[in-house]
Amino acid sequence: MIRQAIIPLAGLGTRLLPLTSVFAKELLPMNGKPNIEYILDECINSGIKEIIFIISKKKLMIKKYFYSDSFYKKIIKKKKDLRTINEYKKILKYKKMIKFVYQNKPLGTADAVLKSKKYIKDKYFLMLLPDDLIIKKNCSKAMIKSHKFHKASVMASMKVNKKTVSRWGIYKFGKKLNKNDTIIKDVIEKPSVNSAPSNKAIIGRYILPKKIFKIIPKLKTGAGGEIHITDAIRELIFKNEKFIAHNFAGKYLDCGSMDGYIKSSIEISKL
Ligand code: UTP
Repeated sequence: MIRQAIIPLAGLGTRLLPLTSVFAKELLPMNGKPNIEYILDECINSGIKEIIFIISKKKLMIKKYFYSDSFYKKIIKKKKDLRTINEYKKILKYKKMIKFVYQNKPLGTADAVLKSKKYIKDKYFLMLLPDDLIIKKNCSKAMIKSHKFHKASVMASMKVNKKTVSRWGIYKFGKKLNKNDTIIKDVIEKPSVNSAPSNKAIIGRYILPKKIFKIIPKLKTGAGGEIHITDAIRELIFKNEKFIAHNFAGKYLDCGSMDGYIKSSIEISKL
């Protein structure tokens, strides 16, 4: 059973400057609701019971968003406004499920994942990258179903334009297991157009095995001077861990770049 999810939030968000010079990108509103709440709702609706946020001191604003109880109480007492009461109830529901851990130096996604090690209880856990929103269908729920059936690690997958492979983790595929699931034989972080093994990319949803924590400390720095989770996954594949690419049914929205954020906000406002 997948009961825990981790969400790395300790990145610098340089592609969304100047907004991110003072603001956590995960709190940027998409049709009046912070990006992170869409991610939390996806987790909750897929049966996740505990969520670990990996933040940094620079992103304490994210914790404050869920810990403003005294402010809410004061306002509610004074105004008795129904909308505020309902929003506060929702925040309390999220707060009960979230634990915070810290990665104060953004050394890469694998290093961020490692910070959650002592909290992970089960053999497998879910990881969501909040820059990647998937709307219309619950991608995590479908991946958990796939994990249960195949008893394997699972990653969300999408076909991308060949010219853009250097933006993604790209995988080499093996046997097709059914309409949506395929065995992954290798994965490469941000390959050049010439070295990419396909045009199938990994999107920010992963069901990872707890044993990944043993691999991460041995990793060398990879593309862009960071320690990537893709490199840890690669090692696991070489050690015969079964990884499956799940072609998700929902619509992918990129919220990590300025252009993507603007387009995603428009798309979400149409829902
Ligand atoms: P990205 O590298 O795609 O985004 O990280 P970023 O670093 O936040 O932003 P840019 O590239 O400078 O614009 C993917 C996810 O991993 C987290 C980020 O917060 C983001 O959710 N991350 C990244 C960490 O938690 N720690 C890191 O060291 C790196």
